[in-house]
Amino acid sequence: MAILVTGGAGFIGSNFVLDWLAQSEETLVNLDKLTYAGNLRNLESLQNDPRHVFVHGDIGDTAQVGQLLARHQIRAVLHFAAESHVDRSISGPRAFIQTNVVGTFSLLEAVRAYWQALAPAQQAAFRFLHVSTDEVYGSLEPEAPAFTEAHRYAPNSPYSASKAASDHLVRAYHHTYGLPVLTTHCSNNYGPLHFPEKLIPLMIVNALAGKALPVYGDGQQVRDWLFVNDHCSALRTVLAAGQPGQTYNVGGWNEKPNLEIVQRVCALLDELQPRADGLPYASQISFVADRPGHDRRYAIDARKLSADLGWKPAETFESGIRKTVQWYLDHPQWVQEVQSGAYRDWVQSHYAQAGSAA
Ligand code: NAD
Ligand code: TYD
Repeated sequence: MAILVTGGAGFIGSNFVLDWLAQSEETLVNLDKLTYAGNLRNLESLQNDPRHVFVHGDIGDTAQVGQLLARHQIRAVLHFAAESHVDRSISGPRAFIQTNVVGTFSLLEAVRAYWQALAPAQQAAFRFLHVSTDEVYGSLEPEAPAFTEAHRYAPNSPYSASKAASDHLVRAYHHTYGLPVLTTHCSNNYGPLHFPEKLIPLMIVNALAGKALPVYGDGQQVRDWLFVNDHCSALRTVLAAGQPGQTYNVGGWNEKPNLEIVQRVCALLDELQPRADGLPYASQISFVADRPGHDRRYAIDARKLSADLGWKPAETFESGIRKTVQWYLDHPQWVQEVQSGAYRDWVQSHYAQAGSAA
């Protein structure tokens, strides 16, 4: 028996893979297309670990996924693979529809065929965990209560619309075919291995490179931030104890405006690696044009997950952001390779080895 992780070379996926293998002997099959967001360097420490089977492939390849499911007797699928960046979805939405909607549909078809052929006991124990986002719920007014699982869907960006569509497909496969699915809606993650196109890692690497720190609009948009390892522990909890057909919101009770996040990152850098000229990093902040259709506020009510399954985040924002900034300071080579694109050469030169594990 084994689990299948899709998108396990991305930010959350690779953190999940490392976290899972730190506490389980079970084989983990990692299917990833290695788009710009997939970085096998993240998983370098697992290179000679037989429990990690890396497969370079597309969730849209139903035949390949079917073979993997059967060959490894998969008992659970954790579906992370996606196009995930809102700004990219605005400039090029097609890839989001292709992977997040069509790809998820193809994956579900492969999983359905495999699952329907299992013995009844294995069918009952099987799980398909769909990793979704709070962004499917749309934008909240300043004083509105946080999103519960009953909140209506109102996705506003091509990214969130594509994730919403995939959520509906996952739900339909439970309702129509009985596939034992679980869906999680998590707030904004941050932590190590985060590609520096998203707010927090971009601000850290730009600050250290002496570049401008671009804050969209007035910087008062609010997000609810969760340290990535807490997301991983929530996913393990939901996989182990969640009720098939249920959805669970995951969040850190950490609502903060973007400007405050950027200022906190700057203050930590001032403390841990002050600028040579003695000026504060916050002097690099630059207000730029707002994102089109920018959601003003997200906030997650995670009470169902804590009441039903006993999950709680381990990190506060203070402890998590300090660990994150320190991780980037400790990993200049990772940052340099991601910025120069050299991580892709590294992937190619190591591909034969990684691919042979499949
Ligand atoms: P990411 O962009 O860092 O990684 C995505 C991974 O999926 C990459 O490794 C990429 O190569 C892979 N991938 C893309 N298309 C693929 C395809 N067709 N077949 C196989 N692999 C493919 O994303 P992330 O931030 O790690 O997010 C992971 C999941 O979590 C996504 O589904 C996202 O919607 C969800 N999520 C993210 C956040 C967040 O704050 N980052 C919050 C809530 C939910
Ligand atoms: P991001 O990390 O892209 O996540 P999401 O859009 O999925 O919430 O952005 C987080 C917030 O930070 C969002 O309100 C947009 C804002 N932002 C900036 O102000 N400047 C930036 O350069 C980026 C990438 C994001």
